[in-house]
Amino acid sequence: MDADHVPSEITEILITDEQLQRRLAEVAAQVDADYAGRDLLLVGVLKGATIVVADFMRHLKSHVTVDWMAVSSYGSGTQSSGVVRILKDLDTDLEGRNVLVVEDILDTGLTLSWLLSNLKSRGAESVEVFTLLRKPEALRIPVEPKYVGFDIPNVFVVGYGLDYAERYRNLRQVGVLDPRVYGG
Ligand code: IMP
Repeated sequence: MDADHVPSEITEILITDEQLQRRLAEVAAQVDADYAGRDLLLVGVLKGATIVVADFMRHLKSHVTVDWMAVSSYGSGTQSSGVVRILKDLDTDLEGRNVLVVEDILDTGLTLSWLLSNLKSRGAESVEVFTLLRKPEALRIPVEPKYVGFDIPNVFVVGYGLDYAERYRNLRQVGVLDPRVYGG
């Protein structure tokens, strides 16, 4: 789906699909260099990071393995609740592994800081983060991702995996959701 298929719901395209792919290729080149000669496990955070992981891992030129975790902090609203629950845990033992958590968006940081301390307690050699998007103005807990795709303003965005009430994940671009859609 493209933003012009739902013109009354998306007020602005923040990032086009070409810009997304170009940036993913740049970050992948950086990750290839940083992890050269070491094993790398990507941990995708469901469901928002599915599309980032799928595209990003194909830009990598080294072997990589992937596993998935699902956590909930948002429900179907647009505000972080701060309460994090594991809905689906990893199948992989992290002992001695180099882990790169792939996130769709870093907003308040509540979800990611909780997730990082959880993963770090499992004996990984290293745990780093790649977040496609970051809202610097919204950050409430200090989380420092090693890789950031794009810094964006503090607005509610959808597309490229990101949803509102489970919709818009299949939008090719990252766009600003019209507040009328969520009654804002
Ligand atoms: P945090 O705990 O506030 O950092 O929120 C992280 C999670 O909230 C993300 O993984 C998303 O699932 C969701 N989220 C935060 N901001 C947005 C947004 O602008 N659009 C869609 N989902 C968002």
